[in-house]
Amino acid sequence: MNKIAARAFYDALNSDMGTQAREYLSKRQLSRATCVHFGLGYAPDSFNYLTDILTKEGYSTDEISENFLCGISKKNGKPFDMFRNRVIFPIIDLYGNIIAFGGRVMDDSKPKYLNSSDTVVFKKSKNLFALNFAKSALLGDREGGGSASTLVRSGELILCEGYMDVISMHQAGFTNAVATLGTAITSEHARIISRFAKTVYLAYDSDSAGQNATKKAIEKLSEVGIDAKVIKIEGAKDPDEYIKKYGAASFAKILGSSDGEVDFKLKAILNKYDLSNADDKIRAVQDICRMLSDIYSPIKREVYTKRASEITGISEETINAEIKKALRGKASSFRKKQSDDTQKRLLRYDDRINKESAVNPAAASVEERLLGILLLHPELFEKCKELKSDDFITSFNRSVYERLKEIYDSGTSDTSSLNEYFSPEEMGRIMNMRYEREKLSSNGVDALSEQIYTLKKLKDKKDAKSEELSFIDSINKIKAEKLKGGSN
Ligand code: GTP
Ligand code: MN
Repeated sequence: MNKIAARAFYDALNSDMGTQAREYLSKRQLSRATCVHFGLGYAPDSFNYLTDILTKEGYSTDEISENFLCGISKKNGKPFDMFRNRVIFPIIDLYGNIIAFGGRVMDDSKPKYLNSSDTVVFKKSKNLFALNFAKSALLGDREGGGSASTLVRSGELILCEGYMDVISMHQAGFTNAVATLGTAITSEHARIISRFAKTVYLAYDSDSAGQNATKKAIEKLSEVGIDAKVIKIEGAKDPDEYIKKYGAASFAKILGSSDGEVDFKLKAILNKYDLSNADDKIRAVQDICRMLSDIYSPIKREVYTKRASEITGISEETINAEIKKALRGKASSFRKKQSDDTQKRLLRYDDRINKESAVNPAAASVEERLLGILLLHPELFEKCKELKSDDFITSFNRSVYERLKEIYDSGTSDTSSLNEYFSPEEMGRIMNMRYEREKLSSNGVDALSEQIYTLKKLKDKKDAKSEELSFIDSINKIKAEKLKGGSN
């Protein structure tokens, strides 16, 4: 379906309907070759252009809507094209399959970008825009669309914020650029990137949101052992604008002189304080020491301790002592966290409604959050297709999910029949799940998918553990058999 859709968007861009979109892309200085390379398209200003094409190809409205290519009108139940009057960016996975789309308006209307939400084939927490091309470039594979550009060094990836940045960079020869799809980088993204790159250059926007995103990205990347570098984009809002203003050679230069992560953090701290003020200086040094105490490598730590001492005028001995103090503080907050977890467990021991929650406190909480969202927003239930009742770890919550599923599947969102299945005390618990979520503002698809994802991960962990136990069990049995055999 996505392939047919991409073709339809591509055809629209290159037909009479696409005149304005072609003008838009050329105004943004994308060459014809670049547009073809990325398979860019245009979603006409129509409510049925794509839906008609896909219906003719035999897809049902439900299938099209599940793939985020149409919505269904609440008024008359009719489908309508999801992407309308937008330039279309196909999102392609590592195997070359088109899995989703992004669409940009051509004026100032909102939302600027519309991205497919998660579907069976697309998870925005896992996929990166243009990684299919960057992969070929990094592996030096000319066939796969990699241009084997002289600007690309092996093992080095450039991570940007948006589609347009990536496309601009590729056009300028930086074919190792990728972007996350309208989200912050996740641990999953980092893990995937680590298969192709040892070093990641962060080329986020120069505004403060971009700088905060940079800090978060450094953390995620260092968790998987990637060296992060930060490209300092000055005199432009983002890489796209920079390349247009100053050219590819200049970008290559700032790439070469980008800061390592410690320097980036060091500068961020120094920017916050005025070192000529004594109080400020004390806080700055404390922040710096806390940051240095995060560095695992003693060599690296010593190098930066020297640097910090030079900048602040505080002796290395003092800085080292302060780092030791910070490390002790961390150890004690770790112990505190551990005892908090024990506390939570103890609280759960009292739980008479969901007895298994004492052994699975984390799972029970995730399940309750998930059910809370579904109770609050029945319409999100259709986003739960991949959630099986077997994914639930505690049986009380599983039974709540099963009942809810029956209710919602029968086409109603009236949950009063839950009363027939659950005792008043149990109903109190169920209502509380809903109430707990009502207090929060983030109860959308993203919050829901996050809970589903976490629950599945907990379940996988639990399954792996019980597999391991049954393996040990069978080894013990074999050993016992052997002993018996030996004594015969
Ligand atoms: P241009 O204005 O086309 O240059 O885009 P940009 O890449 O500079 O956009 P921006 O920095 O505003 O956004 C970066 C990325 O965030 C985009 O590529 C999108 O993936 C995402 N994004 C931006 N605006 C929206 C929005 O309104 N909705 C959603 N879902 N994502 C957005
Ligand atoms: Mn931009």
